[in-house]
Amino acid sequence: MAATQEKFRKNRALRFYNEVLGLDRLHYGLWNNSDTRNIDGLIQAQLRYEEFLSDEIDLLFPENSAARILDVGCGTGAMSEALYKKKINVEGLSPDLYQKELFEKRIPVPFHLARYQTFFAEKVYDLILMSESAQYIPLKSLFTKTNELLKDQGYLMVCDYFVLDQANGKMAKSGHRLSAFMEEANKNNYELVKEVDITVAVLPTLDTAKIFTEKYVLPTIDIIEEKFRERRPFIFKTLKWILRKKIAKAQEDMILIDSAEFRRNKKYLFFLFRRRTIGYNNFS
Ligand SMILES: C[S@@+](CC[C@H](N)C(=O)[O-])C[C@H]1O[C@@H](n2cnc3c(N)ncnc32)[C@H](O)[C@@H]1O
Repeated sequence: MAATQEKFRKNRALRFYNEVLGLDRLHYGLWNNSDTRNIDGLIQAQLRYEEFLSDEIDLLFPENSAARILDVGCGTGAMSEALYKKKINVEGLSPDLYQKELFEKRIPVPFHLARYQTFFAEKVYDLILMSESAQYIPLKSLFTKTNELLKDQGYLMVCDYFVLDQANGKMAKSGHRLSAFMEEANKNNYELVKEVDITVAVLPTLDTAKIFTEKYVLPTIDIIEEKFRERRPFIFKTLKWILRKKIAKAQEDMILIDSAEFRRNKKYLFFLFRRRTIGYNNFS
């Protein structure tokens, strides 16, 4: 039986961040108190986060080393580009066609159009990097695939947010449960080498999103709504009724950009794991 062909699409949200908001990176960033809570501040915070990860990689592999790194969920390729400039052998992976275009324009290194969990490589890597992408990969496959792709004694670097045990409802929907993630890492023989809690430094991203929504998005919707209500009252009422569930959901989703809720229910963590035991790899 022929294997089913995986389907890949272009992510429109990313196009919006990239082309409309001018954001070249897709993560929360690492804020300083002095950063202004706007898009410029976010761009600075994102650059700082990238430097933070890049410095951690420098501690493991010096510039020009032969280390092979797989940037899983590489987004626009900004992080891969920083590593490429240090003459590190980096490759990108993402299941998104728009990201493939951006990545390939950016650097002449392999890009794998794939979901991590079904990716097949004819080589192994010294480091697998998951910068805010681990949350999209089913937990068990994240580790079984990493076992396949990582050299013995290789590193898994994960920076992402995780859901705390007490969380429930909407706040528990995105991100792996922290306790389950650590249990799976342990079961698969990954030794935790370093952990840094960066929760407080990512929160301003949510505050900025909230300010942006309250200052621009909601008033714009309000003005459009008012005009439409005045000119087409019947169609307006009908549409509002048809869309009532979507409207209620959008209102409930505001909790997702509430930094106090995030802090109560999640942690944003940097983890460096090392594969502990000599496993079996098909390639060397
Ligand atoms: C929040 S973005 C982070 C992008 C980039 N690493 C960064 O730090 O800016 C999440 C990334 O994960 C990718 N992704 C989503 N599902 C994935 C999967 N199953 N396997 C690999 N990557 C995935 C997305 O396409 C995107 O590139």
